[in-house]
Amino acid sequence: MRNYNMYDLIQKKKTGGELSRAEIDFMVKNYTGDIIPDYQMSAMMMAIFFEGMNEEETLFLTEAMAKSGDMLDLSAIKGIKVDKHSTGGVGDKTSLALAPMVAACGLKVAKMSGRGLGHTGGTIDKLESFPGFTTEICVDKFINNVNEIGMAIMGQTNELAPADKKLYALRDVTATVDQMSLIASSIMSKKLAAGADAIVLDVKTGSGAFMKEEKDAVLLAEEMYRIGNNAGRKTIALVTDMDQPLGLAVGNSLEVKEAIETLKGNGPADFVELCVALGAQMLIAGGLALNQEEGEAKIRATIKDGSALKMMAGFITAQGGDAAYVYHPEKLPGAAIIEPVFSPGPGYIEKIICDEIGRCSLILGGGRVTKDSIIDLAVGIVLTKKVGSQVSQGEVLAYIHGNDSGKIAEAKERLLGAYKISENKVEVPLLIKRVIS
Ligand code: URA
Repeated sequence: MRNYNMYDLIQKKKTGGELSRAEIDFMVKNYTGDIIPDYQMSAMMMAIFFEGMNEEETLFLTEAMAKSGDMLDLSAIKGIKVDKHSTGGVGDKTSLALAPMVAACGLKVAKMSGRGLGHTGGTIDKLESFPGFTTEICVDKFINNVNEIGMAIMGQTNELAPADKKLYALRDVTATVDQMSLIASSIMSKKLAAGADAIVLDVKTGSGAFMKEEKDAVLLAEEMYRIGNNAGRKTIALVTDMDQPLGLAVGNSLEVKEAIETLKGNGPADFVELCVALGAQMLIAGGLALNQEEGEAKIRATIKDGSALKMMAGFITAQGGDAAYVYHPEKLPGAAIIEPVFSPGPGYIEKIICDEIGRCSLILGGGRVTKDSIIDLAVGIVLTKKVGSQVSQGEVLAYIHGNDSGKIAEAKERLLGAYKISENKVEVPLLIKRVIS
């Protein structure tokens, strides 16, 4: 690898120049190896923040970060491997239901997931509601399970894109997170390293999302779409609503219960719609459906014939859990107190401030305040009314599931403040705002 002077590279970017692949590879490798100091990389991140990166530079940065650690080799799994990634939000339990649905259609699902910080837990935290279940499995077992059962989920290792881990932490303290190419390359570096042939992205927008404005979510989706396809992975991006929680349940075991109910055919309409839409795109990308209509029909069939629920039971058992909890989700962790929250007036739900509902779950103990916080899997909120619903005075808006009456009282006040009720009829908002393919 050619050597460069980091000072020259910063100067070049600061004055609007374009960095070559060799220059970016040098920078990423030597930053990860602690040779380039934080102060020079901070200056580079700030230069990129103001000058931006073109499509090629963004791809070079993504690939350099992906290759900075282990690149998962999934070639021992037959067929096209399709991954799905969500930028996250309140009540987003999509992977829990979607993975068994697409796996039941014959698509091999080899998924790496993470834990959550803030709001609610991540996919792994939610899955740990099943006693004994673990995502700490070795790559051989991971691949074996996918081949034998159809799906497996393992935790992200420290060796997955370590350059991104170090850079993200630096950006976090130097006010350089919110740059579109840097966000897109950060997310996609982990996806490329995770080894899938195709990637379906669910980019959320709204008050509960990382991207509050739809126009920003579209820009991010387009940027990630370009990176994925330029890197040779077929990529499709959906921009979807996160201006109110997804489904009705928010909180770890409550979301697992809702995902199981969805596999049994009793899921909330918006959550089912999202799973069906994303699932269809995954089947198309994997060559198992010709178009959206065929893909959607195949996904719906896995709910109707029970094959998705059976897949979930097989997956939970194979990773140390007990399938009895899939068939009897009432056995999953439950809170000691379930408190209803009543509507202060009649009308139609006009708005539910989504991140406030996430914060209620955090107050109850359902999310992490710091990386080391221990989360309470049982607590959370189950909404009974969503945007567009009619409500009468004194009718239940939501149920708070908690283990501490002080925290419940605090969450209740916040929850009431998150609802806006209008006298006029309110339309149900559009869930899927854009498909970029
Ligand atoms: N999530 C990531 O993984 N990276 C970013 O830069 C922002 C959000």
